[in-house]
Amino acid sequence: MKLRSMLFVPADSERKLAKALGSTADALILDLEDAVAASRKSEARRGAAAFIAEHATRIQSALFVRINPLDSGMAMQDLAAVVAPGLAGIMLPKTNSAADIARLANCLDALEARADMTEGAVRIVPVATETAQAMLNMQSFAAPVPRLAGITWGAEDLSAAIGAISNREEDGALSPLYHWANSLCLCAAAATGVPAIDTLYADFRDAAGLAASCRQARRRGFRGRIAIHPDQVATINEAFSPSEAELAHARRIVEAFAAQPDAGTLSIDGVMIDKPHLTQALRTLDLTN
Ligand code: COA
Ligand code: MG
Repeated sequence: MKLRSMLFVPADSERKLAKALGSTADALILDLEDAVAASRKSEARRGAAAFIAEHATRIQSALFVRINPLDSGMAMQDLAAVVAPGLAGIMLPKTNSAADIARLANCLDALEARADMTEGAVRIVPVATETAQAMLNMQSFAAPVPRLAGITWGAEDLSAAIGAISNREEDGALSPLYHWANSLCLCAAAATGVPAIDTLYADFRDAAGLAASCRQARRRGFRGRIAIHPDQVATINEAFSPSEAELAHARRIVEAFAAQPDAGTLSIDGVMIDKPHLTQALRTLDLTN
């Protein structure tokens, strides 16, 4: 599943749901959690369920729903409302460890059977760094986890969870804990074999800042990013797609190794190229699929 851009859409907002229909995001995340007030949860469940039923087969974006946390007392009602044909995945907030994914997967087994869906059709993307427990349990993603389609992280809820006044230093830079969360997300995703999806960029009017931040994220290993506003989607899609120059260079590396199958290392334009470069080149070419 291609997940360069995942656009959050508050599921109780008819206006935003309507606007999302024309989006080129790889995925929409119909939100039932933090973007929806407690008094509007039922409205949001109805909005998400109707959107999936009416539009899933007609739009290009895969449809995800962000449910409320497993321990919120709302998650089961959320799942019962939205697991239906056309639902591509669940985003699980406040995930404490991979054990939460297994618990959610058990619920999905039953709900898919009830909805006549293929077992395993609904994938899971956890927000994996929103609690203190989650940070200490990131090693639980060291092995493959069934249904996982990606892992993302967040810097807002974690600061609330640990009682920080802010997630930033006085000079505006993210505090060390959140750099750690960002890096753990990359490692967990790689270890369990799914793409790492970077967290949101809050200043949605700053397209140049978003583009620069996405380029940095991609260099670090992220394969996609959360969007909170429709205007961010095109920038994110472009940033997480390889450029023509990158593709051409990747093809040269693959062709050079193919031409010399017994070479462990070779040179291109006077630069040493070996196995990790080939792995990287193949991954770049894979991004076009
Ligand atoms: N999805 C779909 N449509 C959206 C949208 C979104 N995430 N954000 C804005 N829009 C729509 C608006 O409704 C508006 O459409 P309209 O002209 O038909 O009314 C248009 O895009 C332009 O919106 P704009 O005026 O620039 O923004 P805003 O002030 O209405 O909304 C936010 C700003 C941040 C409140 C809004 O972008 C939003 O709700 N984002 C998602 C928040 C979220 O889900 N957070 C949870 C994850 S942290
Ligand atoms: Mg949150």
